[in-house]
Amino acid sequence: MKPTTTPKTYRVKSFGCQMNVYDGERMGELLEAQGITPAPEGEDADLVVLNTCHIREKATEKVYSDIGRLVKAGEEAGKKPMIAVAGCVAQAEGEEIMARAPAVGMVVGPQAYHRLGDMVKDAAAGRRNTDTDMPEDAKFAALPARRKVAASAFLTIQEGCDKFCTYCVVPYTRGAEISRPYSDLLREAEKLVEAGARELTLLGQNVNAWSGEDDKGRAVGFDGLIRTLAELPGLHRIRYTTSHPNDMTEGLIAAHGEVEKLMPYLHLPVQSGSDRVLKAMNRSHTAQSYLKLLDRFRAVRPDIALSGDFIVGFPGETEAEFEETLALVNEVKYAAAYSFKYSPRPGTPAASMDGQVAPQVMDERLQRLQAALNHHQLAFNEASVGKNCKVLIERKGKHPGQWLGKSPWLQSVFFEGDCAMGDLVEVELVQAGPNSLAGRVLQPARA
Ligand code: 5AD
Ligand code: SF4
Repeated sequence: MKPTTTPKTYRVKSFGCQMNVYDGERMGELLEAQGITPAPEGEDADLVVLNTCHIREKATEKVYSDIGRLVKAGEEAGKKPMIAVAGCVAQAEGEEIMARAPAVGMVVGPQAYHRLGDMVKDAAAGRRNTDTDMPEDAKFAALPARRKVAASAFLTIQEGCDKFCTYCVVPYTRGAEISRPYSDLLREAEKLVEAGARELTLLGQNVNAWSGEDDKGRAVGFDGLIRTLAELPGLHRIRYTTSHPNDMTEGLIAAHGEVEKLMPYLHLPVQSGSDRVLKAMNRSHTAQSYLKLLDRFRAVRPDIALSGDFIVGFPGETEAEFEETLALVNEVKYAAAYSFKYSPRPGTPAASMDGQVAPQVMDERLQRLQAALNHHQLAFNEASVGKNCKVLIERKGKHPGQWLGKSPWLQSVFFEGDCAMGDLVEVELVQAGPNSLAGRVLQPARA
């Protein structure tokens, strides 16, 4: 077997949330700046970055089995791939991974990946490295400039979370809330638009907690950032995720009624419809206060599509409490949603709470919840049929001449027409399915 040398090709495998996808893209740019190129589709890469997620399920075991698979594939090809473990499992279990998996050349946490290039050089020289430091915002300044991007691009504006929901590992893996500086974000947004982005999704574990200062030292809030970005020529759409119900300001709600580029879609996790469970989760809102908040968004933007996150089987959750979640779902009628079985995360308060719910009970509740959520998603899509809307083209469809894009309400829409990537096209929605809609082009509008 050949010894490890400087890799020529790389592949980043990102798991979990959109912030990981963003981090994965930036790691790729960093490696490309060092002359390492993306491995062609279907070919083994010299360097594989496993950009891991720790939020649910058997995340750590999955990393070890992925490592095992890479080592085996390398042996069969007579090569020794360089393996980097990044992301939240790296942050939480870095030292242990190094000790247990000798094939891993480096472990790099989400706040330290700007050092990946140096770590690759070290690994090529046979030195294994772990970096899980959490310096404040050092990473972004050290990353290379953005180059090629898709029509819809992510922009991380904030990282970390101070909420400490009792089930959640994020405050431990991603650390305390930090906001990226206003001027850096404006510059990165401009670069993204220059590189072809027509939509920006502002990312953060708790984006609403973002705060900054303009060049005169005046405070700017999250809604101020949105309003400034909306002035960027060439940018058609702005979205953001994820928000916490307690940080939704008057200014942000007003922006939804006033800023045309801010899309009518709100992902606002609620987790449960039971006030007792919400309290045990340390969510600091009630089902009622959440519903009232949604009403305020609907008042300024009646067509807003709503999305949420749900956890079933939180410790101590009774059948009656679960039914309160179903009742909330049936009241809100979400356009989209993400629902999960509770998964105990090591070191979080909920993991040692009494009343852990049996797996079969969780399975059954998840099925019932998803049936309700799917019903409302399909109903939302069906109610869109007959509407005309703009669709931003994000990629080619499966058939020749077919395109796939997103409606303002984040629905996938496919249609045929003489269009190009990044076009904003006027479409009539003609047919609805559970996960997408068919459209008919009314007027291609070259952007
Ligand atoms: N178990 C199940 N779901 C979880 N989430 C976060 N932590 C856990 C956990 N321990 C879900 C929440 C959150 C989403 C990103 O993941 O619903 O909003
Ligand atoms: Fe986790 Fe979100 Fe709660 Fe923060 S607000 S602790 S990221 S679930």
